[in-house]
Amino acid sequence: MRRIRVGLLGLGTVGSGVFKALKSNRDVILKRTDLLFEISGILVRDRQKRREVDGIQPLLTTRFEQLLEQKVDVVLEAIGGVEPARTYIERALKAGCHVVTANKELIAKHGVELDALAQEKGVQLLYEASVGGGIPVLGTLRHLLKSNRIHRFSAILNGTTNYILTRMETEGISFDQALAEAQQKGYAEADPTSDVDGLDAAYKLAILGRLTFEVDVPVSQVSCRGIRDINPWELQLARSLGYRIKLLAQGEQYGEKGPLSLQVGPALLPFSHPLARIEGVHNAVHLEGDIVQDVTLVGQGAGERPTASAMVEDLCNVCCLPADHGCSAGEATLLPVDTGGSRFL
Ligand code: NAP
Ligand code: HSE
Repeated sequence: MRRIRVGLLGLGTVGSGVFKALKSNRDVILKRTDLLFEISGILVRDRQKRREVDGIQPLLTTRFEQLLEQKVDVVLEAIGGVEPARTYIERALKAGCHVVTANKELIAKHGVELDALAQEKGVQLLYEASVGGGIPVLGTLRHLLKSNRIHRFSAILNGTTNYILTRMETEGISFDQALAEAQQKGYAEADPTSDVDGLDAAYKLAILGRLTFEVDVPVSQVSCRGIRDINPWELQLARSLGYRIKLLAQGEQYGEKGPLSLQVGPALLPFSHPLARIEGVHNAVHLEGDIVQDVTLVGQGAGERPTASAMVEDLCNVCCLPADHGCSAGEATLLPVDTGGSRFL
């Protein structure tokens, strides 16, 4: 049995989920991996805040240095935003710790340099939870579709907006009411603007695009529109005509090493489309490869347990699997968005 010391950054929706999952599934993890994870400390903003999780108080700290001083083997980051998360992750990697993060904004903006730093230090940086919640999509691309050239993917990458669109369509409730429900369930970002205006999906599209097409995809070059101007009656009219309106994220490469088109926006999908029936907080990624043809991965795209699942799986993998720094990042040529003939509204 190997004891692995873990430093957890954040004890909100995701951090609490990770803490609980490591406790509830300790036996399964130990049996299958021979790893025993011990949480050495938890970084929070406010130590006095009331916490749902029992017996946690002695582990809490507001000083990142205190976690590193405890010689942790792996740092799990679930605080969100670029700073101070970026500084903490850099310091952890430089100290020789593996890092697992759920932070899509950070990985979309600084993933290339952080991947390079991890490689230089001989440690791993994994971020499965940053895209698609509990769906193992990055692992599938990294480990299970190595031989395919993926030329296109279409995806629903934001749980909050898919939940809002579903509730407005099926229950006729208002945008504001549906958003409040998504926030209450822990699906939305601290600032939900990022969800409803499509930015969160754009971060995920950039990460997925980088892994799929092996080029750096600057978020600023992803064309992005959100769902603020979609009404319940438009969703219902679309449905009566055999369509669903979804916040679609699409990436396509034209020819091997050719230019890319990357777009997030509301799109009309016929019922027959593989993503049309994805409801509520579910996400889905439809990949098209030259050998496999097409594969669709579906699962819960946000929330405490699915996101914790992705982080805990990464935690097991950093300790069991050899490093895979296979995602080189050359420069991408981005095509101007051509909505002609596409499904985007
Ligand atoms: P959250 O509920 O707002 O929790 C954030 C946690 O981080 C809180 O415990 C907070 O401390 C702590 N924190 C924030 N800023 C800090 C700072 N400067 N120093 C120390 N601690 C700090 O957020 P969340 O929903 O768990 O999301 C966390 C990350 O996971 C984000 O990157 C998010 O995008 C990503 N993610 C979330 C989901 C989801 O479904 N929620 C799914 C996938 C990925 P206090 O408790 O003291 O305030
Ligand atoms: N706010 C995000 C969403 C969390 O709703 O999809 C999961 O990344």
